[in-house]
Amino acid sequence: MSRDVLTLSRHVLQQFESFTAEAQDFSALLNRIALAGKMIARRLGQSGLIEDALGITGSINVQGEEQKQMDDYANRAFIRALEQTGLVCRLVSEEMKTPARLPENCSLSRLALLIDPLDGSSNIDANLTVGSIFSVLRPLENRPEADNQDLLQPGRNQLAAGYILYGPSTQLVYSIGKGVHSFTLDPSLGEFILSQSPIRTPERGSVYSLNEGYFCQWNEGIQNFVRYVHRRDGYTSRYSGALVADFHRILLQGGVYLYPGTQKKPEGKLRLMYEAAPLAFLAEQAGGVATTGTESILDIVPQSLHQRVPLIIGSRENVMEVLNCLQGSP
Ligand code: AHG
Ligand code: MN
Ligand code: MN
Ligand code: MN
Repeated sequence: MSRDVLTLSRHVLQQFESFTAEAQDFSALLNRIALAGKMIARRLGQSGLIEDALGITGSINVQGEEQKQMDDYANRAFIRALEQTGLVCRLVSEEMKTPARLPENCSLSRLALLIDPLDGSSNIDANLTVGSIFSVLRPLENRPEADNQDLLQPGRNQLAAGYILYGPSTQLVYSIGKGVHSFTLDPSLGEFILSQSPIRTPERGSVYSLNEGYFCQWNEGIQNFVRYVHRRDGYTSRYSGALVADFHRILLQGGVYLYPGTQKKPEGKLRLMYEAAPLAFLAEQAGGVATTGTESILDIVPQSLHQRVPLIIGSRENVMEVLNCLQGSP
């Protein structure tokens, strides 16, 4: 039976149940995000053939990381896809200290887009899976625009969140708060076509995903969880080095991903506003949970745009096992 060719832009309009100006703006915005994803997917597909598409730019980003050529390309792809649309004003990005204004004199009251333009950069030079993560916020009217304080709001306020996964196929997964839906890019059409809707995360899964190379730096509770999964059947380890890829597996098949804090970096590595919060939004929409270990990711009021948080995310039962270990009783 031929699949109904339901495109991303059409699906977004259907999600709004009426063709209001807001619905059409959102459909256009998701379409421009998808365009950035198509540009990045195309570049990734050719990266081994294009001079200096791989490797580093030679600069250090605001995170203190060696910026990859693809980090910079992906960031510019989002800017180019959005700058003349008037759909968003501020673009907050892992790769930029301060948000870009699209265009320079745009009205700060317009929606803001927050992105991790390329997630899993360490995989790039090895031709492994990477992703892009996005979040959409409406600036708070009762907060000053100065220093982007009107964007420092809990993830529960997100209007939309999603990611693009550059794997064997290029997939876009998003939610506007009405379930989680995935689309697969059909390169022959240049369209993202609905492929799974709605996505529901199993109550329990067999995958645990974390970088055990940091075992000695974790607190007792996390070490207890690792010891627990090592001695019981039914768990299998999967860790790709790209949060989007590891999360996507867990979103579909169940399990738990952890990026805990360490003694040296108690806040961990992942950024709240454009990594943890958008994925937490999706996880909860799909029936899962996302926590720091002490509080729900979506309840955290950010203190800064690039704030980091520990992340434990996935199926309800698996996350509960982690929390039990943190409280001392596996
Ligand atoms: P980014 O490439 O956007 O900086 O994010 C990398 C993140 C995440 O994608 C991944 O799960 C994690 O860093 C890997 O970190 P480790 O190499 O420390 O395990
Ligand atoms: Mn990332
Ligand atoms: Mn990144
Ligand atoms: Mn990075």
